[in-house]
Amino acid sequence: MLIDSYDRVVDYLRVSVTERCNFRCQYCMPEKPFSWVPKENILSFEELFEFMKIAIDEGVKKIRITGGEPLLRERLDVFIKMIYDYEPSIDLAMTTNAYLLKGTAQRLKDAGLQRINVSIDTLKPDVAMRIAQKDVLKNVLEGVNEALKVGLKVKVNMVPMYGMNADEIIDVLEYSKERGMSIRFIEYMENQYADKSISGLKSEKLLEILSAKYEFEDEGFDGSSPSHYFRMKDGYRFGIIEPYEDDFCKKCNRIRLTAEGQLIPCLYFDEAMSIAESIKKGDIKGAAAVLKEVIRTKPEKNRWGGDDAEMSSRAFYETGG
Ligand code: 5AD
Ligand code: SF4
Repeated sequence: MLIDSYDRVVDYLRVSVTERCNFRCQYCMPEKPFSWVPKENILSFEELFEFMKIAIDEGVKKIRITGGEPLLRERLDVFIKMIYDYEPSIDLAMTTNAYLLKGTAQRLKDAGLQRINVSIDTLKPDVAMRIAQKDVLKNVLEGVNEALKVGLKVKVNMVPMYGMNADEIIDVLEYSKERGMSIRFIEYMENQYADKSISGLKSEKLLEILSAKYEFEDEGFDGSSPSHYFRMKDGYRFGIIEPYEDDFCKKCNRIRLTAEGQLIPCLYFDEAMSIAESIKKGDIKGAAAVLKEVIRTKPEKNRWGGDDAEMSSRAFYETGG
């Protein structure tokens, strides 16, 4: 078992398989980065899989594939199948923008994928166009339908922003609810890459809008999810993620791996250690030692509170958010 210095069991690994993305969301990657990580620095699926095996052997029980947009990497289903075949009991999920799901959902499901998180920030084609800077809505919604059809569990993420999609909070919730998908509203997180004009709705405002229409109870946190949950009278549950809080740090169970092999103990810190060299040399012990060191140095909580508030300069599209 992997246990950090604050007695937290770390059993959740998020793997960003590429930082590249086919969208240019205003809150994430409004402009194409000046340079991408060179292709030769990206670990192959075989190399990433070598590390997955170590992590699973050490106690990882849940793996989420993220990006950038993970479906931009060819043969992603083969990678998923490698993990699934090694440990079929693993909880295998993916975060995707859903644009390419229509043609791939069945293959991903067959390979062993169980769940996906998708962003539905709007149901209006022109607003989707403004947010992602590409005409994406049709493909996204078709992709989501396909995922549901093949039996993937789907969670929806929405980042509510003033002057953009703030008037669609109820609509997107209803859309999700009707299709049996849970929804989480994510407070916009400032970052140096995002469009500077964005202003996100905070949870108090979200709750004000939602409580004008629904009655619900505060259920607090659930397990190690960073989401604060609320349950409506009919049993439907929605979540709000307040990234500037640190309540969820107490139960944090996750570490992240980038496509280049940087192992990151906390999203909000720059610190990371590379497993690339050990993996490329076939040095399993060396990679396992890096994993243990990263667990040992996992910080207690993010640095947003207090006087020395600061955040990581790493882009969310690199770490997979
Ligand atoms: N603030 C909040 N959420 C963000 N996401 C990406 N960038 C940001 C940000 N700056 C969310 C998107 C997507 C998930 C991968 O991360 O909503 O669903
Ligand atoms: Fe791509 Fe997701 Fe970032 Fe949008 S939020 S640019 S879909 S990685």
